[in-house]
Amino acid sequence: MCGIVGYVGPAVDETALDVVMEGLARLEYRGYDSAGVAVIDDDEIAIRKRSGKLANLRSEISAHPLHASSTAIGHTRWATHGGPTDNNAHPHLGGQDRKLALIHNGIIENFHRLKTSLVDAGQSFLSETDTEVAAHLVAMAYERTGDLTEAMREAVAQLEGAFTLLAIHADQPGVVVGARRNSPLVVGLGEGANYLGSDVAAFIGHTREAMEMGQDEIVTITPDSVSVIRFDGTPTEGKRYHVDWDAAAAEKGGYPSFMAKEIDEQPQAIGDTLLGRTDSEGRLVLDELRISEDSLREVDKIVIVACGTAWYSGLTAKYAIEHWTRIPCEVELAHEFRYRDPVVDEHTLVISVSQSGETMDTLMAVKHARELGALTISVCNTHGATIPRESDAVLYTHAGPEIAVASTKAFVAQITACYLLGLYLAQVRGVATGERVAEIMADLADIPAKVQTVLDRMDRVREIARFMADSRAVLFLGRHVGYPIALEGALKLKEIAYIHAEGFAAGELKHGPIALIEPGQPVFVVVPGPDTPHDLHSKVVSNIQEIRARGARTLVIAEDGDEAVVPFADEVIRVPAAPTLLMPLITIVPLQVFALELATAKGLDVDQPRNLAKSVTVE
Ligand code: G6P
Repeated sequence: MCGIVGYVGPAVDETALDVVMEGLARLEYRGYDSAGVAVIDDDEIAIRKRSGKLANLRSEISAHPLHASSTAIGHTRWATHGGPTDNNAHPHLGGQDRKLALIHNGIIENFHRLKTSLVDAGQSFLSETDTEVAAHLVAMAYERTGDLTEAMREAVAQLEGAFTLLAIHADQPGVVVGARRNSPLVVGLGEGANYLGSDVAAFIGHTREAMEMGQDEIVTITPDSVSVIRFDGTPTEGKRYHVDWDAAAAEKGGYPSFMAKEIDEQPQAIGDTLLGRTDSEGRLVLDELRISEDSLREVDKIVIVACGTAWYSGLTAKYAIEHWTRIPCEVELAHEFRYRDPVVDEHTLVISVSQSGETMDTLMAVKHARELGALTISVCNTHGATIPRESDAVLYTHAGPEIAVASTKAFVAQITACYLLGLYLAQVRGVATGERVAEIMADLADIPAKVQTVLDRMDRVREIARFMADSRAVLFLGRHVGYPIALEGALKLKEIAYIHAEGFAAGELKHGPIALIEPGQPVFVVVPGPDTPHDLHSKVVSNIQEIRARGARTLVIAEDGDEAVVPFADEVIRVPAAPTLLMPLITIVPLQVFALELATAKGLDVDQPRNLAKSVTVE
């Protein structure tokens, strides 16, 4: 959801504005309804802001340049309170003299009550946002205290909800103060300059040294100091860490879009997530989990909570986890889990899956699970994010930064990490022999090369996508682990190509969805390999015949050498064979490429699809 950047440094060759604009460009995936910056210029606050993408703000700044400054904040917005207009764009000014500028990510839940009392006290408002309330509260507290950190502390005491706030004051150049509750904020540690950002991408071009911020903490940065206090005023220290990727990883590197690059990075995302997970005897080791084997042996139920693509990774992993561990595994949308009185106790393992580690719905589900006594493990792609911090343990996926809003490489890395967790549980509980674990690990190690083979064969899929640019609806069928892949394939098409797309379990076809089939209706079918147990392969081949007989145009994803599908397929998309449970890591690739190419053919912005944000930090 909104992206925020703050910077203080010397105003030498690189101005604060350049640093903040660069940070906003890297954070634009978090929201692109509007963008704005504020700098301290000669004891005054100067602001530029514009609705729409960052390019609009750039034009505004070219038309009305800002002076060099050592202190700046910037914001890219995903609108919640108030439409995506110039007026509602951040920063917002606070106080009668408007000497304070503030930006915000999150939702201030009690803003209406606060606004009413501020209006009654004579304060005027220029926007419809909840943020402007915070700007006035901090500014009023500054008038009393003359200290921005203290002013922030007084103001946050009155706020309810989720927020990261950054503020600068014209009378305190060289200082940016940030506060966080339930929304992300990290500190970038430079030399003679310091940074604040929603995530490390905000400052990765300048430093790879970072510091985590805890919940309910306030940070004050100057060019050569960083100090942190809790909301109650007691001093504290953040955890410092080194970011293991660099600016190049957060750039397109010659690709037309981040999504294209990230699809191509999938072999590496899977490989890196598998890296270093076995000891010299071939046993799976997940040292970073730091959960005792005894507590894992006591688990009698697993619940996976997640949203969006991460939820589909959980749905996929369920098949393997139950098969390997023999522990019942539910997969629940995080926002449903919390409100339905789930049966969870201290023997339940709740696995949250989240690329960003900041999704509010998932975070709240994790907190709820902990309140109920469950053991919580976070599968996450973002070091030091809130969800891993709020969990008992974390298993990081190593997909690298994912910038495109539609998730691709994080999805395969999430499945991989959940598989590792499942296998580890099976090993610890003695359900799987060492030999069996080693065999599955060897099969997993073969997957990156197979994904690369699929990527190398995508020309025909691209051609098909271009022909289908005018499609009004596309259906996706799958069975067993192919079912969540059908769902994820449909989601990709909805998200970036704005085409009505539905995924169905192939077995469910006859119970309703077959009524949708009319002549020419395109249907992707993810076919299980011929060796899949229970003869699911033949059952899905029958499904293809059934829809073809009713006029469907069948686009069939099938293993190399599977000739049974040929007579009933309008197109066969070939993928290398792998054990059934590992096939999702391979079969999703053509569906991602299809969505990408079709959206591109329609001239759409695939990295920043309309109405979406990469990380949804509001409920
Ligand atoms: C948003 C994004 C999706 C993503 C979901 C979960 O809805 O648009 O692409 O899958 O959030 O995000 P997470 O960071 O928790 O994996």
